[in-house]
Amino acid sequence: MTDKRKYYLTTPIYYTNGLPHIGHTYSTIVCDTVRRYKRMRGYDVVMTTGTDEHGVNVERSAKKAGVPESEFVAKMAAEWRALWDELGVQGDEFIRTTDLKHAHTVQWLFKQCRENGFVYPGHYTGQYCIYDNAYVDVKPGENCPDCGRSTETVTEANYFFKLSAFQKPLLQWYAKHPDFIQPEARRNEVLSFVEGGLRDLSITRTTIRWGIPVPGEEPHVFYVWFDALTAYLSAVGGPQYEKTGFWPADVHLVGKEIIRFHAVYWPAFLMAAGLPLPKQIWAHGWLLMDSTKMSKSLGNVVRPRPIVHVLGMDALRYYLLRETVFGQDGNFSYDALVQRYNSDLANGLGNLASRTAAMIEKNSGGKIPKPAALQPSDSALATQAQAAIGDVVEQYDNLAFSRALEQIWSLIAATDKYLTTEHPWSLGESDADQQRRATILWTTAEVLRIATALTHPVLPESTTKVWSLLGQPGQPGSIALDNLRWGQLVPGTPLGKSQALFPRIEKAEAIERMESMENEAQKQPSPAVAPMPASTPAAIGTAAAAAPQATPEKIGIEDFAKVEMRVGQIKTAERIVGADKLLKLTVDIGTEIRQICAGIAQYYEPEKLIGRKVAVVVNLAPRKLRGVESNGMIVAASVGPEGRPVLAGFPDEDVEIGARLK
Ligand code: MSP
Repeated sequence: MTDKRKYYLTTPIYYTNGLPHIGHTYSTIVCDTVRRYKRMRGYDVVMTTGTDEHGVNVERSAKKAGVPESEFVAKMAAEWRALWDELGVQGDEFIRTTDLKHAHTVQWLFKQCRENGFVYPGHYTGQYCIYDNAYVDVKPGENCPDCGRSTETVTEANYFFKLSAFQKPLLQWYAKHPDFIQPEARRNEVLSFVEGGLRDLSITRTTIRWGIPVPGEEPHVFYVWFDALTAYLSAVGGPQYEKTGFWPADVHLVGKEIIRFHAVYWPAFLMAAGLPLPKQIWAHGWLLMDSTKMSKSLGNVVRPRPIVHVLGMDALRYYLLRETVFGQDGNFSYDALVQRYNSDLANGLGNLASRTAAMIEKNSGGKIPKPAALQPSDSALATQAQAAIGDVVEQYDNLAFSRALEQIWSLIAATDKYLTTEHPWSLGESDADQQRRATILWTTAEVLRIATALTHPVLPESTTKVWSLLGQPGQPGSIALDNLRWGQLVPGTPLGKSQALFPRIEKAEAIERMESMENEAQKQPSPAVAPMPASTPAAIGTAAAAAPQATPEKIGIEDFAKVEMRVGQIKTAERIVGADKLLKLTVDIGTEIRQICAGIAQYYEPEKLIGRKVAVVVNLAPRKLRGVESNGMIVAASVGPEGRPVLAGFPDEDVEIGARLK
């Protein structure tokens, strides 16, 4: 049992039809910084991030890459995950919209909305922007007003969500919760949008295959935004959200272009289902490149990896949070990045840490000296440092990262100035001089300790090094900011090992290295486009059985655990006209009845299969075989040169339907 206050924050979930650039990185780093900060304030924090893997864009990208969608998204999701690790992002839950638990949550939410009378069937014709995955309010032939790309006229059978019924409840909610949408400019934008009237929203698609099926309503799949937004709920228990205690979310951090989905659709879906609403939606601005939004389609992206490689992850984190006022747009330039690195990190924090340690090493035998009575100059610095604690905490609370960092860096600058004025290196060896030097060095080290603790949420890697250099136990992230005070640095504490912090780097050289890595990266195909290793499943219902490999690729248990296999019972079986190898089965898998196509028609009589228990892969993405939806796979051995399928079964015992195979 924990009596800690809970705090739940989310990044948007990222589309897997592309690789991360530093615009995406910005959303996630902000969230990670808040997560670290809240932890230091004593909260039990959960932060989620993840990937948005359905929709026609992915369908098209996978086709272009010549691989099945499931393989395509798995590779892309792995890339996103790896990148967050490289940036020190501590996500607690990485949610993929192809996760089974997510599909269950989406289906459950839909059921709630439908049972409460907010869903109805209909037809829709409109101009659709495939890039934004949204119908847009333009005439045929006109381009998308948001992204400027061409639109397509689409007519399809849909389920509609009665968004129009929520105009009043939403306006009432905004009025009662004035901080719900941040910053103010975005709130005004959303308010006028809702005041202008809301049209019902189609929330299923029949023109898309790659999506979560609407149970019993095939070929309907969920519209990407109904699917994606629900990820916030699936990450913390889905239908059982009450058990985790993390719903409603404290804040959804999003980019400004997706505020409407979060501040209008999402609360309306939740109201319709009778669920609690998130406490706040915070929209940040864009990272611009030459005054234009950085985006893959415009070809002006900068990726995080070359920056991390040349300057370190903290340099990128610092730059993104220091250079942009949170909520507004900010410009990216390599020049400004390296400039910040050299002036603030190498000459600022890095230099202060190494010179303080060197002076203590030399004058105090490598131990924190004992201060005598503070002089006015020492006390002035103490007052500034103590005030910074309260101010910075307040600024982090308001997500005013650049102001928080500005204040910490003015403390660092004041300390540099203090050292220049007090020049401890020119003091002699008399008792009075030694005491004075000890006081100055202790004061400097104490400022450094406080600045390090306050900067930790932004610079997790380097502050951990400074922390151990100062001989402090554990990690700066594990201290309680609420207990941080001037005067806690214990004299006599031995310094830790000194480690390289921010080596100065020549600007032109750094830029050249980053740019050439970036150019190389741009030439590489995305991981999902690279050739895939041959797979060998005796897969019925997906691909033809492949020949066994001489030396199969080894996988870890965690890879195997991703395949969810369960005992299923065949309820009905029938031949498919025009497909002489396929049978259409309905299979009870314990939680639902699935329709699955199996390539066994030449070897099994349909009527003899009824009641038979089989092994079913239940978390395989649905696909169509000869126009028939197949949602899962029956496991069978592939025997002999012709690959005759022999169904895996359970002859020894009457196993329970739905039992998992592990
Ligand atoms: N999949 C949707 C979000 C679903 S959330 C339930 C999506 N994905 S995205 O990959 O296009 O964008 C994810 C986030 O990255 C958004 O918050 C977006 O604002 C952010 N950014 C993408 N490019 C950006 C910049 N150039 N600058 C800052 N953030 C930007 O939208």
